[in-house]
Amino acid sequence: MASSWKHYPKTGNITGIVTVDGPAGSGKSTVSRLLAGKIGYSYLDTGATYRAVALAASRRGVDPLDTSGLKTLCGSLDLAFDRDQDPPAVLLDGEDVSDLIRTPGMDMLSSRVSAVSEVRRAMIALQRRIARGGGFVAEGRDMGTVVFPEADFKFFLTASAGTRAERRYRELMLRGESVDRQVVEMELKQRDDQDSLRARSPLKPAHDATIIDSTTLTVEEVVDLMLRRMDGS
Ligand code: DC
Repeated sequence: MASSWKHYPKTGNITGIVTVDGPAGSGKSTVSRLLAGKIGYSYLDTGATYRAVALAASRRGVDPLDTSGLKTLCGSLDLAFDRDQDPPAVLLDGEDVSDLIRTPGMDMLSSRVSAVSEVRRAMIALQRRIARGGGFVAEGRDMGTVVFPEADFKFFLTASAGTRAERRYRELMLRGESVDRQVVEMELKQRDDQDSLRARSPLKPAHDATIIDSTTLTVEEVVDLMLRRMDGS
């Protein structure tokens, strides 16, 4: 199905990029990974970069309001993805922190540090560096609007607040976190507000993004819709 798309003429600075933006719990990660696998691209989880900053800040005792402390921290951050693992492991100073960055505490802290301009500048540079050769499905909040405005295809994934909270709750339970369903829903709402209302790179669909509501769709159905869009049908 994606064969004709693979010959699609590429434009812009960094070519061969598909962007998937959306709020927490919209299914971005699962969908992006599956889509990347189907079209032979790599998967770039940009939320993981903000989560790694949050973990490093909490380990080094840097307050999320301390912008100069965060700037210094980002300047010395040793952050990489190990693509030999699926999903790619997140390495902070060589340590696999993939699980440590996905706790409820890091949900909130990553959202807070991601609103800081100095952090965004450093992470956007890192994300572009990683993807400079193209061949990436990049997932986040500002992929289509700010980081890869010239992407070949842009998607914005949404789902109802209740569905997103349920997905996040199940994900945390599967990870062995003991969480309250109502607290998950409340924190998701708080994170939505923080991520959408901030001054820099707020969460919003790019003007040329295809918006997909995944509330009643399976992951496969969403990916199928994307592939059809990319094939021009
Ligand atoms: O996608 P995620 O839940 O792992 O992202 C964690 C936080 O990082 C999210 O609340 C907002 C921030 N983020 C961002 O500001 N820009 C991105 N491109 C990706 C994530």
